[in-house]
This record gives sequence, C-alpha cells and structure tokens, in this order.
Amino acid sequence: MHLVITGGAGYVGSVVAEFASAAGHDITVIDNLQDGKRAAVPDGAAFVRADFGDAAVLDRVFSERRTDAVIHLAAEANVSTSMTEPAKFFENNVSKGLVLLEAMRRHDVKRMVFSSTAATYGEPTAVPISEEHPLRPINAYGESKLMFERCLDWYHRAYGMNAIALRYFNAAGATSERGEDRRDETHLIPLVLSAVQGKRSVVDVFGTDYPTSDGTCVRDYVHVGDIARAHLAGLARIDEVGFDAFNVAGESGHTVLDVVQAVEKVTGKSVPRAARPRRRGDPAVLVATAAKLRSILNWRPLESSLVTIVESAWAWRLRFPTGYAR
Ligand code: UFG
Repeated sequence: MHLVITGGAGYVGSVVAEFASAAGHDITVIDNLQDGKRAAVPDGAAFVRADFGDAAVLDRVFSERRTDAVIHLAAEANVSTSMTEPAKFFENNVSKGLVLLEAMRRHDVKRMVFSSTAATYGEPTAVPISEEHPLRPINAYGESKLMFERCLDWYHRAYGMNAIALRYFNAAGATSERGEDRRDETHLIPLVLSAVQGKRSVVDVFGTDYPTSDGTCVRDYVHVGDIARAHLAGLARIDEVGFDAFNVAGESGHTVLDVVQAVEKVTGKSVPRAARPRRRGDPAVLVATAAKLRSILNWRPLESSLVTIVESAWAWRLRFPTGYAR
C-alpha cells in the first residue's frame, strides 16, 4: 500500500513509519517539523515538510500518487498547554483534520487510521477502562481528539470512508533506531532517564497521596512498537471494521515509583527524586483493557512489559546520547 503518514517525524509517527516500511508499504511522511525530527523519518520514505492542514500540499501529494490510506498522527499533544491555549488544539486537531478529510474525499482516499488518546475518557469511573467507558474528557486535548473521532464516524456514514481510531494509553519505549526526543519533555520515563544521565538533578514525583499502593499515580504504559503494530493490524482489517475505536494499552498499571524503580534496576543507578504536589488534571489510575483490539484486530503486544519498555528506552539513550541531534 501507499500510506501517507502525518506526523511521521514525531515519536510515535516515526516508529509507525519504521514498522510500515518494514512491512513493505510505501510511505510518504508529511510533517512540519514543529516537534518532529527529519532524522527520525525512515530512509526510503518520501518526506514532505509541510503542515497537514495545507490543502494545496495535500492536493499535490494525493494527485502525484494514488494513496491507499492515511495514518494521521500529527497533532497538538501537550495536555497542560491544552488547558491554557485550547484554540490551538481545536484548530490543529479538529479544523485542520477536516481539511485533511476533505482532501481525502476529493482524491477518493477511503481509509484513515487515527491517533487518538486515553484522554478521551477523562476521569475513569471504572477500571480497567474499556471502549464502553463514558467519554468525558477533562482537558481540551482529549476533547479535540474525541471531536475528530466523531468527525470520522460521520465521514464513514456519509461518504463510506473507513476509519479506525486508536486510543493510546501511555506510549513509551524505543526501537533500536527511534525513541523519545522532545524539545520540552514532560513525560515520566524520558525525564527519569535524563535524571540518571545527570541531565536533570531530580525527578519530580507529582502527588504522593493518591489512593494507590504507594500514593503515586498509576498508568498503563504501552511500548511504541506495540502501538505501531496496532496501526498495521488496523489497516489490515479496516474495510471490515468500517468505523470503530480501540484502546491500545499494555493492560497493567504501574505507579510512578514502580517506573523509577524499574529504571534503577535497568540502569543500575539510583534516581534522585522529590515529592511534589499533585499535577493538575492527573487522574489517580488509568489502566485499560485492550481486549477489543486483540479480538477484532488480532493484535498482540510483544514488548509492553515495564522492564522491556525501560530497557529499550535506555538502550536508545545510550546509543544516541544527544537524541536526533547527531
Ligand atoms: N509524572 C511525575 N513526574 C514527572 C512527569 C510525570 O510524577 O516529571 C507522573 C504524572 O503525574 C503521571 C505519570 O507520571 O502520573 C505519567 O505522566 P506522563 O506525563 O508521562 O503521562 P500522562 O499520563 O500525563 O499522559 C499520557 C499521555 C497523554 C495523554 C494522557 C491521558 O502522554 O498524551 O496520558 O491522560 F493524553
């Protein structure tokens, strides 16, 4: 298949491009490099540096080569920014998404796999979270992703476009070539690894009084390679599915301190940490079931144990100490 991957220079997108390329698909990456890295795009993939909401660029890409499916990952994704600058999220994640859908319609591109999020659920009322859980986002990021899921449902009903929304839980880990390298890092595992490397003096533990085993938040970490596999599993069945949403999760919960301890075990180094107040908008426990993904799309997680996730992220750090700035 010829796949257009928006955000294919980003953390998850570049790994999706790596796996899709390895599976024999032809790839065109569209990425404006706002957060993405050119060096993350796999060799052999065509690269277009542009905003995915630029209709003229989309018309050019779609008319140059017949496209079988779009994998849409480009987005504004910083949850706390979404609370202070919501317009950015609705513009990028919804309005520009509609520009993309309209371009797909003009060029008769009938399939999309969409990068959605656990943040569509909001504060869980029951765990593990299944796709039946109420959808009540508590931040503009989750709301914008949910709105675009709804757009996809209606494009399916109105125009027969097939779409699969993948609601990732906590994406983590690395392949041997690709890993997390963000300008302003906020995610736990890369921050803990930076502390091990002495690039940060201390790990802030946000909240130590949650109703969990050790008082810190519980999250469901899923390896980025398993997330990439979910995209390929989705593509394989998309025409049978029509439109649907699936959790992508490791299906087990780990506290912040579990993560810190896993890093200490893997690296053999101790991690300086400091108890801090709770971070705004953090649910105590987010753990999912991915039973639907396993049964309908035949997905199998291969790398999502916490130790494998941490080992892979650490190996990537050791191999590329300066990330993509090589
Ligand atoms: N945490 C710390 N210290 C840090 C960073 C994080 O204690 O320095 C804690 C957080 O409070 C949270 C856990 O570690 O309990 C994980 O935090 P991350 O920032 O790594 O990830 P989140 O769970 O906040 O966010 C993830 C995805 C988002 C998605 C969200 C759904 O990264 O894209 O889950 O709620 F929207």
